[in-house]
Amino acid sequence: MMMKFTPAALFVLFVTLLSTLVSALPILESRDVFVPPITSPDALTIWSVGSKQNVTWDTSNPPAQITNGNGTIYLAKGGLIQLDTPLADKFSILNGIQEVTVPDVEPGVDYAVVLFGDSGNFSPEFSIV
Ligand SMILES: *[C@@H]1O[C@H](CO)[C@@H](O)[C@H](O)[C@H]1NC(C)=O
Ligand SMILES: *[C@@H]1O[C@H](CO)[C@@H](O)[C@H](O)[C@H]1NC(C)=O
Repeated sequence: MMMKFTPAALFVLFVTLLSTLVSALPILESRDVFVPPITSPDALTIWSVGSKQNVTWDTSNPPAQITNGNGTIYLAKGGLIQLDTPLADKFSILNGIQEVTVPDVEPGVDYAVVLFGDSGNFSPEFSIV
C-alpha cells in the first residue's frame, strides 16, 4: 500500500523519530551497553614511541549482561580512529587493564585511545613523543 505524506507531515514524523531516538539513547546506554570510562591515559599522559603502556578503565559498574565482552583498543589522532591498526584486541572488557605498545607514529598532542566493547569510549587527548 502506498502512503502519501505532505512535506510538513514528513517533517513532523522526522522530528518525532529523532526525539524518540535521542530520548531512548541514555536508557540504552545505562541498561545494555557497557561503556567503561578510561582512567589511563589521561590528559597529562605522555607516551614515547615504542614503549609499553597500560591502558586502564573503570570496570566497577558492568551490566548483568554484556553484549560484546571482547575488547579492542584503537589509537585516535585528532578524533580520527586509526581502525587499520588496533593497539590490542581479543581481550576481555572486564579486565580493566591492557598493555599496549606505542606504535611508531608522528609526535602529537592530540592522541587518544578508544576502547571498544559494546560501544566506543574515548580517553582524553594526550601526547605521544
Ligand atoms: C601493566 O600492568 C601490569 C599489571 O599491573 C604490570 O605487570 C605491567 O608491568 C604494567 N606495564 C607497564 C608498561 O606499566
Ligand atoms: C574474542 O573473540 C575471539 C574470536 O572472535 C575469540 O577467539 C576470543 O576468545 C574472544 N576473547 C574474549 C576475551 O572474549
